[in-house]
Amino acid sequence: MNVLGIETTCDETAASIVMPGEDGRGRILSNEVLSQIAEHAAYGGVVPEIAARAHVEVLDRLVARALDTAGMSLSQVDGIAVAAGPGLIGGVLIGLVTAKTLALVARKPLIAVNHLEAHALTARLTDGIGFPYLLLLASGGHTQLVAVKGVGDYVRLGTTVDDAIGEAFDKVAKLLGLGYPGGPEVERMAETGNPERFALPRPMLGRREPNFSLSGLKTALRIEAERLEPLSGADVADLCASFQAAVVDVVVDRVRVALREFGAMAGHPTALVAAGGVAANGAIRRALTTQANEAGLAFVAPPLSLCGDNGAMIAWAGIERLRLGLVDDLTAPARARWPFAEAAAVA
Ligand code: KG4
Ligand code: ZN
Repeated sequence: MNVLGIETTCDETAASIVMPGEDGRGRILSNEVLSQIAEHAAYGGVVPEIAARAHVEVLDRLVARALDTAGMSLSQVDGIAVAAGPGLIGGVLIGLVTAKTLALVARKPLIAVNHLEAHALTARLTDGIGFPYLLLLASGGHTQLVAVKGVGDYVRLGTTVDDAIGEAFDKVAKLLGLGYPGGPEVERMAETGNPERFALPRPMLGRREPNFSLSGLKTALRIEAERLEPLSGADVADLCASFQAAVVDVVVDRVRVALREFGAMAGHPTALVAAGGVAANGAIRRALTTQANEAGLAFVAPPLSLCGDNGAMIAWAGIERLRLGLVDDLTAPARARWPFAEAAAVA
């Protein structure tokens, strides 16, 4: 079973061919990703119109390249999976219309995949882990703790009440005059900084529900930064290090609470999993590794190349759904908003 995966929901255009491997993992036959970062950099964030135009300019060539690299033709794929949301609607439409056209012409099943579900299932593509597991899904637009119980069976234990973690990194970077996307820049600066110089707040620490709040932390950092103007390189490094340390403390505390809730609801998890762009952050990965080990759990996070948006995760989610007969027809809608996990029932 070979599935083509197409991703265009944000600022990466991506196409990939994946097949199930014998060990329960996926085998990635090709994974083409074209980042639009350069096109958006001047604006300090993703401009939807520019993104949509950039997707439409390269997607057909990228799909051709993914097939080429995998050494196959369209007639040899068994399904066409596409991220049908959530995301910027212009980009989503371009991916979806392309996938529908290919599915129609080549008479292949179409699988309309939720982008967040694809991030959530990536740990099975890379590590073949079984259900259920606890997932920290953290990207530029989302921050959720989810009990992943099966394909299509996701219970949201907690979410952010304001900014997503990636968004907070991006805003902090902008505030400090660092580049976009901000996460990698802040992490790089933090390496040489003193994480104890600024006593930033740890919002939500100790709260009973595993929710997040990041806007207060960002504001506290802005106030410190304004007080110090003009900022030296060392100031910026110390601010980044202090910010990242606060985020790590919050994440570990929220995961601790989520693990407790998970146990009461779904039993023993097979692993603690991180996904989404923020899962690329080394400090967060190290802290979660320690935390998982202390809880007797494996920590699984995708390799850096599969943390950010990519087509392989879409293809894999397509495989998972296709195996269960979960296919879509040509009326599948593009969705700017598309929650993938049900909120947990309040105990
Ligand atoms: O999943 P993703 O590639 O795109 C979506 O938002 O769907 O995530 C991008 C986000 C951005 O906010 C970016 O700043 C953040 O992930 N990010 C990081 C790191 N690398 C990317 N945040 C913290 N540390 C990083 N190393
Ligand atoms: Zn994403």
